[in-house]
Amino acid sequence: MKIADGRFVVTGGAGFIGSHLVDALLARGAARVAVVDSFFLGKDENLAAAAAKYGERLHVYRDDASDLLLMGAVLDAEKPDTIFNMATKALAYSFFNPAGALNVNVNLALTCLELLRKGAYGRLVHVSSSEVYGTAQTVSMDEGHPLLAETTYAAGKAAADLAVRSYVRMFGCQAMIVRPFNNYGLRQNTETYGAVIPLTVRRILSGQRPFIEGTGEQTRDFIYVLDTVDAMLRLATSDLPKGEEVNVGSGHETTIGGLIETICKVMNYKGEIDRKPERSADVRRHCANVKKAEGLIGPCEKTSLEQGLNDTIAWYRSRYEAGKL
Ligand SMILES: NC(=O)c1ccc[n+]([C@@H]2O[C@H](COP(=O)([O-])OP(=O)(O)OC[C@H]3O[C@@H](n4cnc5c(N)ncnc54)[C@H](O)[C@@H]3O)[C@@H](O)[C@H]2O)c1
Repeated sequence: MKIADGRFVVTGGAGFIGSHLVDALLARGAARVAVVDSFFLGKDENLAAAAAKYGERLHVYRDDASDLLLMGAVLDAEKPDTIFNMATKALAYSFFNPAGALNVNVNLALTCLELLRKGAYGRLVHVSSSEVYGTAQTVSMDEGHPLLAETTYAAGKAAADLAVRSYVRMFGCQAMIVRPFNNYGLRQNTETYGAVIPLTVRRILSGQRPFIEGTGEQTRDFIYVLDTVDAMLRLATSDLPKGEEVNVGSGHETTIGGLIETICKVMNYKGEIDRKPERSADVRRHCANVKKAEGLIGPCEKTSLEQGLNDTIAWYRSRYEAGKL
């Protein structure tokens, strides 16, 4: 797969990671990038800079990427080489609509796979999640770690990954699975269904106390979003055998309590930190084994957590000061 002059469809491309991927594809010379996003959490402003800079090389379909007929029509019109399947409804949504959250992850993958099997495009880069592993049984966690999903969101992601593998075995489809760990950075949602870093930063900026859920000893592997996108693009053009999955993470384990204290320090917040009960089905430990990715493309992490947090906090602060948060 070549990026320069290539044609791409990005499902969920108006979201957090997806919009950075769109920027990177266009910056590297893609001839056409079509986003299919339902705007469940996606935002026009995430694509505003790319739309202004690249004009008709970017096209946005406001629609449901799990709809087979719609996606068939999009592929007829766009004739892409590759689909990046980034769309999802956030993990936190699965507590509101557990079956719906599972279904959406499965149906998005099945739609991409059915169209791949029928030859409507050439290659699928399916974006999975470290959540499929559940709590670490071994640290660090390699791609052979059992799939012990805790939430229905993760169960849907795991089922989608198994579907990708089975389509490759049954029909020889050109598909790969990228499995990112916890991403953070510019454009991450700070509202309903938001994640710990943007929520904590927004609370401090708006004069509210940050909080830690549970003991704070639970860990995650945080990776800066631009590093994930860069790794994803390098993996998409690597020798990863079809049907295989590959972790994208930093390889470092960070406690949530420690992370929140670091954010407080960077933001010069000296007030109280509230305590809340542990979230149900919360993963206890996560730390990526990134040897497979490193063997294919070298290190995934290029931005330290400290640097990434500084940049992220500065961005949210400027938005807050401009009345946009
Ligand atoms: N953010 C993370 O830390 C993280 C970690 C691991 C994996 N991932 C995966 O990366 C991908 C992108 O995650 P994100 O954090 O950018 O999420 P996000 O919520 O910001 O983006 C997802 C996008 O999908 C869109 N969407 C939802 N349902 C859709 C549908 N049926 N059709 C079309 N669009 C739809 C949303 O509107 C949103 O713009 C997801 O597949 C997610 O599982 C994210």
